Amino acid sequence: MAAQGYGYGKVILFNEHFVVYGIPAIASAIGMKTTATIEPWQPDNQPELNYLLEDNRLETPGYKTEKFDQQKDSMKYIFEAAEVDLQAQPIKITLEGDLVASSGIGASAASCAAIARAISGYFELDFSNEKINSIAYEGEKGYHGTPSGIDNTAATYGSLIWFKKAQVKGAPNIMERLTLEKPVDIVMGNTGLVANTTEAVAGVRARRDQDPEGYNKIFDEAKQLAIDARYAFEAYDLSKIGELMDTNHKLLQDIEVSCKELDLLVKIARDNGALGAKLTGGGLGGNMVALTPGEDVQEAVASAIEKEGFATLRTKIGI
Ligand code: MEV
Repeated sequence: MAAQGYGYGKVILFNEHFVVYGIPAIASAIGMKTTATIEPWQPDNQPELNYLLEDNRLETPGYKTEKFDQQKDSMKYIFEAAEVDLQAQPIKITLEGDLVASSGIGASAASCAAIARAISGYFELDFSNEKINSIAYEGEKGYHGTPSGIDNTAATYGSLIWFKKAQVKGAPNIMERLTLEKPVDIVMGNTGLVANTTEAVAGVRARRDQDPEGYNKIFDEAKQLAIDARYAFEAYDLSKIGELMDTNHKLLQDIEVSCKELDLLVKIARDNGALGAKLTGGGLGGNMVALTPGEDVQEAVASAIEKEGFATLRTKIGI
């Protein structure tokens, strides 16, 4: 019998990169998901294979090719963490859904959570969300070595979350759901550049090692920003959230993970009425996010970005 699982696409609203160093971050699920369907499969002419992956997700051109090797590693880690015997029961996995495979929207984490859930259903393992999350975390390692855990957590649980990586090895990460009075419109703008998160994270670490004092100052600002943003979400103060997103983009520029395409999209969004805008995810390409409450603002920002030749997503946070 076939089984299906899902994982949420996500947007990091505050403190990607800083989250790797134990600074709190805020992320939200967006309205798009990846689904994984698992069904029995016979490796007729390739007895050495024990699974077949058919990846039917829409993509930013080049994304799937670029991530192919990482995806293979990721699958291996997922099967190991789930402890399933594919030799005895070979499977076909089909990835689909309305989440476009691109950088910065949690595409890899959504696929890991979806596959973990489909495994749970197919092999009748009845995994808890906690287990799904921990398998998705192992899968994420295939894509970016030492992930903080925010992407798989957002992909597994959805909603709006406050996330803090554990400071002590083996201790649990902190994940709290934040409530938002009502969902808010956002626009995501895609630079069209496929980004390498491992490289982006390694670059920050190298620059921090070179300039610990300067980076500690930026990290302190990011820490305070997360606290201010949490208050702003709780008070549903959208202007404040937008203002803090702008500040967060500045801090991300300071640690050199933005690029001229991201800066351009952020500027277009602000010029066309967004309350705030910033890069989202690993940076160096991928996506930006703009806070655009109300259909008119959302439309104005999205169409201005599209006019410049970039793809957009009109969606919501806090759903
Ligand atoms: C990538 O979506 C988010 C980063 O903060 C890396 C991580 O948290 O593992 C850049």
